[in-house]
Amino acid sequence: MASKLRYPLPWRIKPCSPTNRSLLFDRSHLHLLLLLLLASLVLSSASQHAHELLIKGGTVVNAHHKEVADVYVEDGIIASIGPNIVQVGDEVNIIDATGKYVMPGGIDPHTHLEMDFMETATIDDFFTGQAAALAGGTTMHIDFVIPINGDLSAGFESYVSKAKKSVMDYGFHMAITKWDEAVSKDMEVMVKEHGINSFKFFMAYKGALMINDELLLHGLERCKSLGALAMVHAENGDAVAEGQKRMIDLGITGPEGHALSRPPILEAEATARAIRLAGFVNTPLYVVHVMSIDAMEEIAKAKKSGQRVIGEPVVSGLVLDDSWLWHPDFTTAAKYVMSPPIRKAGHGEVLKAALSAGILQLVGTDHCTFNSTQKALGFDDFRKIPNGVNGIEERMHLIWDTMVETGLISVTDYVRITSTECARIFNIYPQKGAILEGSDADLIILNPNASFRVTSASHHSRSDTNVYEGRTGKGKVEVTISRGRVVWEDDTLKVTPGLGRYIKMKPFSYLFDGIEKADAAYLASLSAPVQRSRASS
Ligand code: URP
Ligand code: ZN
Ligand code: ZN
Repeated sequence: MASKLRYPLPWRIKPCSPTNRSLLFDRSHLHLLLLLLLASLVLSSASQHAHELLIKGGTVVNAHHKEVADVYVEDGIIASIGPNIVQVGDEVNIIDATGKYVMPGGIDPHTHLEMDFMETATIDDFFTGQAAALAGGTTMHIDFVIPINGDLSAGFESYVSKAKKSVMDYGFHMAITKWDEAVSKDMEVMVKEHGINSFKFFMAYKGALMINDELLLHGLERCKSLGALAMVHAENGDAVAEGQKRMIDLGITGPEGHALSRPPILEAEATARAIRLAGFVNTPLYVVHVMSIDAMEEIAKAKKSGQRVIGEPVVSGLVLDDSWLWHPDFTTAAKYVMSPPIRKAGHGEVLKAALSAGILQLVGTDHCTFNSTQKALGFDDFRKIPNGVNGIEERMHLIWDTMVETGLISVTDYVRITSTECARIFNIYPQKGAILEGSDADLIILNPNASFRVTSASHHSRSDTNVYEGRTGKGKVEVTISRGRVVWEDDTLKVTPGLGRYIKMKPFSYLFDGIEKADAAYLASLSAPVQRSRASS
């Protein structure tokens, strides 16, 4: 990590105090005049190709602090932040951010691009999904590698190949779908050689991805020894299968059967079980797509007891409700089918409050998009509707509009839950998730006075539908910068396949601090084994 960061200020740019500003001008005014003459020649190409970028006058927001400042970027890295940075170099692209927020680009912790799933594959690949992300202000995502027939290395190779067309930075989590010595060994290879520091266990999708408690226990132990974060899709898959059969027996075959077959209690049960097993092993746990109050309360209870549990709500669970699943038009209803299901009105509000209180820590999307033809695979049977909704392009706007605009969270909290917390949890902070000297220049400029509108006619996903169709709101990402390149500006994308970089993530994040001490204290508390002699009487 440290080797990637560069700290010295560039020689041509300095943050100026009133005393050194004139000095700088005196020394360099000749250079400035020359620059003015050249400016008209280089202006158009500079915005596209400049390796240097100066963002002037915006409110620079980090999770811990905000200030009006300029940000200077060189070769994809943030070189300096401060008041009145003076540009004296050539080929510097200058962006005026006065009255706007300059923030770290969003990091989406939960996506499924080009994933084989439920007899089909998600429609967005590493090009279209990432293009959509950039247009919405997300500059990095972490996708889930699915092993091939349980084989981790084969799964990894296949995702390396899928990701070749990447236009922005990305990392990988990996799912664990079976257990044997080879899987256990390969987990180590993934962590130590391939930069994967998190493994996901599906407690649902019986007959496909689902694992049992025995496997989960093995997985939790192995994650702990490797310093990798265990993640769970928490639903009781056996009970879901029963619930599905119950609906079919009642003649309920449409999308509403999806919600009815897997109620919040099944999410809460699995969440509680995973939390208890992680507590038994004493390893941190990350619960993906927390969709219900019931599951959130299990996480709150565990956190209150001191357990390290991270809860990730997704934007669909925060801003939508399940009434759509009862819509008379199949295509409309089916697009809202995801697991765990989008819940009844009221859950989203409580989940948002939990986010603002820090009970839930970050927001993902679970971007897992299928078009209407794919969704129609389940026209006669909701169990065959591919599960998943879009969100990678909409997350940053919807969270701004529903949480910052409403006063639920501050602007610094916004940065925390959309970017910084993800970087910290997956151990890539401050390379990502911060506007600090030496951090990657993944940035957005958000205009709080502009507005956004979501529609499938103009979105960048390959899908023909959008679960947020017609939604409007305040706050618009006007500029997205990916490692120093302006990739979204004037509602136009400028992306190049292949420029996205794989970000390796190291094990033993802050979540593992103190685990060994707690283990030692536990062993010391056992008062065992008791030394006994054979009875003498
Ligand atoms: O419905 C969903 N969530 N689809 C994606 C796979 C998963 O469970 O994360
Ligand atoms: Zn899941
Ligand atoms: Zn998912």
